[in-house]
Amino acid sequence: MNRAEAVQRIQKLREQINDYRYRYHVLNQSIMSESAADSLKHELVRLEQAYPDLVTPDSPSQRVAGRPLDKFTAVPHATPMLSLNDVFSREELEAWVKRITKLLPPGYRPEFYVEIKMDGLAAAVIYRDGGLTQGLTRGDGVTGEDVTANLRTVESIPLRLRHDVSVPAEVYRGRIEFRGEVLMYKADFKALNAARAKAGKPLFANPRNTAAGTIRQLDPSLVAERRLRFQVYGLVGEPAGVATHADEHELAGRLGLPVEPNSRVLAGVAEIMEFAREWEDKRRDLPYGTDGLVVTLNDRAALAALGVVGKAPRGAVAYKFPAEQATTKVKDIMVSIGRTGAATPFAVLEPTLVAGSTIQMATLHNESEVRRKDIRIGDTVIIQKAGDVIPEVVGSLPKLRTGQEISFKMPKNCPNCGTELVKQDKEAVWRCPNYNCYALERGRIIHFASKAAFDIEGLGEQTVDALLESKLIADAADLFHLTADDVAGMPRFAEKSAENLVRAIQERKEVTLERFIYALGIRHVGAQTAADLAAHFGTLERFRGATADELREVPGIGQVVAGSVAEWLGSRRGQEFLDKLARADVKPRPMQVARGKLSGRSFVITGTLDSFSREVAGERVKALGGKVQPSVTKETDYLVVGAEPGASKVSKAQKLGTPQIDEAALLKLLEG
Ligand code: IVH
Repeated sequence: MNRAEAVQRIQKLREQINDYRYRYHVLNQSIMSESAADSLKHELVRLEQAYPDLVTPDSPSQRVAGRPLDKFTAVPHATPMLSLNDVFSREELEAWVKRITKLLPPGYRPEFYVEIKMDGLAAAVIYRDGGLTQGLTRGDGVTGEDVTANLRTVESIPLRLRHDVSVPAEVYRGRIEFRGEVLMYKADFKALNAARAKAGKPLFANPRNTAAGTIRQLDPSLVAERRLRFQVYGLVGEPAGVATHADEHELAGRLGLPVEPNSRVLAGVAEIMEFAREWEDKRRDLPYGTDGLVVTLNDRAALAALGVVGKAPRGAVAYKFPAEQATTKVKDIMVSIGRTGAATPFAVLEPTLVAGSTIQMATLHNESEVRRKDIRIGDTVIIQKAGDVIPEVVGSLPKLRTGQEISFKMPKNCPNCGTELVKQDKEAVWRCPNYNCYALERGRIIHFASKAAFDIEGLGEQTVDALLESKLIADAADLFHLTADDVAGMPRFAEKSAENLVRAIQERKEVTLERFIYALGIRHVGAQTAADLAAHFGTLERFRGATADELREVPGIGQVVAGSVAEWLGSRRGQEFLDKLARADVKPRPMQVARGKLSGRSFVITGTLDSFSREVAGERVKALGGKVQPSVTKETDYLVVGAEPGASKVSKAQKLGTPQIDEAALLKLLEG
């Protein structure tokens, strides 16, 4: 980027960030997630670092937002309510520790107080002679709003400080001010929105904005209904016996104020990073939201000595968890063709880090989604990634456009085979109708080898491409004729890896009927439908000969699915593929008696098991007539808990009182 482009980009970023900040802090509206906004701020800071002479005092990088609303009395804070600078990585944390260590006396070994950064709004509660006299919002940090009447309704704030004999008497005399976060618990937020939905009222966006909006209600009785909470993170002044940040929390607790309970005193970057990694996942189980940790120099005297830079203390930082949303630029929009022929537009992105991995592509789902979200080539977009899900484009930021952006047009023809794409009425999806299209065949083979189908180890997308390109296979049935010599002739394959692949394929010649049916890749036949079909027909021969009427009798199968299966079975291609698999000696394992000792029992399996994979354990359960469900419901009879189980499954089972058994108990059930 040259200087002229940087000037323009900085200007646009500032406008966008200012707009975001104003809506977020003053109007309590959320136009993008905080992590997306952070991503924009980060870009701005990087650009300003590259062109320091472009920094202006009014840049969003130089100030803290949030003007007090004029409906409450404005009250100046005793000392400013500061904000924190962010760090986003181990490197940035290290750099900060290094910087402050240099400023501390030689040989001084800093200790850090590390706590969860709560996602609410900052407030101060002031006690005089032990009684609550005033509660203020942060406002702009210098002047807050008097919300005493509202805060008095928050049950977690004591109206009088709790008496504790170990606290020096002078603490109860005169003025003491605590600062903390007003929050709404995720569960309370859900319940509130559920009630509003029932009453036909508009829903709130998120717990943080709801808490902020509630505290600014003029009617305290409304606040009282909303179940807000308060958790202290520090205090103002120098009461006797308070030498460290940890002491502040300790004192608050003794005086009856809630404090964030998960904090620790840690010695350095390594320990902080370990704690951060731990909370990156565990935070989802916290009752309130968080997007990071606060790391503070524990020694209050040293913290004070380091002073304040701008609006933030030098001796504390916010460590932000890896963003699950980020912003980046769309370099191109392309179309990929899946195994059903569906044409899926996807964005080619400037590589960016989201939730710990580099993202270069994100799905745009279908043509009408691209239009609805108005995503253009050249746009800055918000992308997000949740768990193992494919990254997606959430939306574009039109304010950042230069005018050079190009709108997306769905191509008329398949990018792989050139056949004209077709669209069935009422469907959002364009499809390549050419059954023999390379992309469709590739997709079918990948599906055939996938985990829930034939589960062929080591047969990933790249290997499928290589096999197709070297013409060693034309369809999935050909896989079973491959020899190690064939495979070893391909690029990137050595003798040993070729042997391994061929062995993995041969080992999977016999699979359950449900895997077999699922692997065929019939439209609308997912794993559950395949299981229903297998249970109903019992053998491949019976399934193969099923008529549309017979298919419609299968419990759980509707007209559309029955029609799709009948069409596939009635097609020459379908029957030929089945014949070809039979000739290759690929066949479903005969079904075990469905009326087994576990019939009528439902299982959910979570975590890693020692004796077998979850899939195999599930097959053994089903072979004895049991059912395996993806998640815990009222119908679940057992939750089988392996190592590192899914937290949501365990907590759901606890809530419903579902019996939890370990692997040994499962093995007993499967045995005798
Ligand atoms: S310490 C100098 N500790 O984060 C400010 N802040 O970005 C000292 N926050 O305005 C803040 N949880 O509203 C601290 N455990 C925690 C916090 C926390 C949330 C908020 C607070 C502050 C903002 C700074």
